Amino acid sequence: MTFQHIPVLYDDVMRLLDPHPGERYLDLTLGGAGHASGVAQKIGPGAKMVGFDRDPAAQAAAQQRLAPFGLDITFIQNSFEFMDNELRTHGFKDRSEGGGFDIVLADFGLSSPQIDDASRGFSFQSDAPLDMRMSQTGETAAQFIARLAPSELADILYQFGDIRQSHKLAQRITERAQAGQMLTTSQLADVSCSVLGKPKPGTPHPATRVFQAIRIAVNHEFDAIDAFLSDIPKWMRPGGRLAIISFHSGEDRRVKEALHKFQNPCTCPPKLPVCICHKQPLGHVINKKPVEASDSELANNSRARSAKLRGFIFD
Ligand SMILES: C[S@@+](CC[C@H](N)C(=O)[O-])C[C@H]1O[C@@H](n2cnc3c(N)ncnc32)[C@H](O)[C@@H]1O
Repeated sequence: MTFQHIPVLYDDVMRLLDPHPGERYLDLTLGGAGHASGVAQKIGPGAKMVGFDRDPAAQAAAQQRLAPFGLDITFIQNSFEFMDNELRTHGFKDRSEGGGFDIVLADFGLSSPQIDDASRGFSFQSDAPLDMRMSQTGETAAQFIARLAPSELADILYQFGDIRQSHKLAQRITERAQAGQMLTTSQLADVSCSVLGKPKPGTPHPATRVFQAIRIAVNHEFDAIDAFLSDIPKWMRPGGRLAIISFHSGEDRRVKEALHKFQNPCTCPPKLPVCICHKQPLGHVINKKPVEASDSELANNSRARSAKLRGFIFD
């Protein structure tokens, strides 16, 4: 299967990142290298780039697509949760050591081929083993569910999927798992509908948020985002541009809060007449409100529906 992914908010991302020849580029979610190709074209041959993707299929596709641009690229097949350690292990210097990056992009979530390839187990649209591992290694979703207590699963469904009937659904899922009946995407979709109701035309399928919640947990997605947001300022050069695309509220809330803190780091109690913590702003938010897809983009790519782009420029 070829790795076809339409990059979301492409023009907005290019405007925000504003790549120039010779700039250093860090892409934390290479996917099919759609955005990365656009940046590569602008920064030009010989420019330094680092690309992360935890999925070997995405890495291979990105490597092939970027080859013609002649950049000096380091590919890292790991989660961006470990960005700081990986960059140091590969010999990169951070901002305090005179290194860092001018352009950084994180485009969270899944690439289209990960969803479209039924065997990856991310989608309830076709029946397949309940897998959901972006990295294709470690514990599958079926194994993960099988070892959880109902209360742990209920927390995941509530926190990562906003599912109100989380306790009832978790109980039903764990009972089926104990009976060896929670091994496929159809089995998870069926039990979701048995608690949350049958799919209705014109509304999202009831299993959508169940699959989202379990996928987030299996791939430790929020841990990765929290670690990346905490470490990234160390890796931004003066004048560096950071662009982040989120696809649901749990991701966007983390990004919004982190960028706000970069701009307003003061930790003094609001009643103090003057600042005594002396924490300095790291730069400024580029667009106050997140950029979202236009109607014409949505007509070509329905997966851009929930995308929100935020940006920050570092002093
Ligand atoms: C939305 S796609 C990126 C698409 C890309 N910008 C393009 O234009 O083709 C997200 C990619 O990030 C990868 N990914 C998601 N979370 C990751 C993480 N924590 N660490 C590394 N890669 C991750 C996924 O495997 C997927 O290929």
